[in-house]
Amino acid sequence: MVIDTHAHLDFRHYDSDRPQVIERAFQNGLSAIINVGVDLESSKACLRLSEEHQDLYTVVGFHPHHAEQVNSSTLTQLTALARLEKVVAIGEIGLDYYRNYAPHSTQKDAFRRQIRLARKLKLPIVVHIRQAYEDAMTIIEEEGASETGGVLHCFSGDDAEARWAIDRGFHLSFPGVVTFPRSRALDIAASVPPDRLLLETDCPFLAPHPYRGKRNEPSYVKLVAQSIARARGTTFEKLAQETTDNAKKVFRLSNTKY
Ligand code: NI
Repeated sequence: MVIDTHAHLDFRHYDSDRPQVIERAFQNGLSAIINVGVDLESSKACLRLSEEHQDLYTVVGFHPHHAEQVNSSTLTQLTALARLEKVVAIGEIGLDYYRNYAPHSTQKDAFRRQIRLARKLKLPIVVHIRQAYEDAMTIIEEEGASETGGVLHCFSGDDAEARWAIDRGFHLSFPGVVTFPRSRALDIAASVPPDRLLLETDCPFLAPHPYRGKRNEPSYVKLVAQSIARARGTTFEKLAQETTDNAKKVFRLSNTKY
């Protein structure tokens, strides 16, 4: 059994068949799915899904694309959501200097304020970093984010950045890009310590081979697991158990059947 630690099942891409997508995941050997909000509305939609399904969990926060929405009023609302039972982390938060939908100063401020919230609530963080490792590392360091720990999702850094994150107690999560030819992420995934590795789809984006370019969904996380298991010279079953144990630990999932 595997856990998809990063999905966006609230997105409109699933409006026509969301229940079937969820059903397919649980029929295909997933034990849990963690949906990740990108703003207040999306966090609420993820929460509604987790109320309908026992094995769906929610991460609430403002994605760097939506950093301009972060202010004291929206942070108060986010705090209220974050205290609800099915919420397992604050995210996805971070910096995205690739799309640059919000000015860097706004992104940095939103990232800092949400790390502080996570520390206050003693929740881990789910971090999105794209072409911004240097600034993200500075903020993680200065805000004492090691105290909360969490996940660098869709990890796209190099060896040194991976080691840096692991030394600070973070887990690294890898999506379907590890199934693509000559994947640099797969090389990193192969060398992450077994107690720091997580699997994700980031669906609806980043569908693994042979679905590349199509809509992604949680059931495809098994293809991610197969690729990483092969690269690490281990079995699918062993990798599935290790990554499930890691997900349970990071997100403090208490369900004993996982
Ligand atoms: Ni995401």
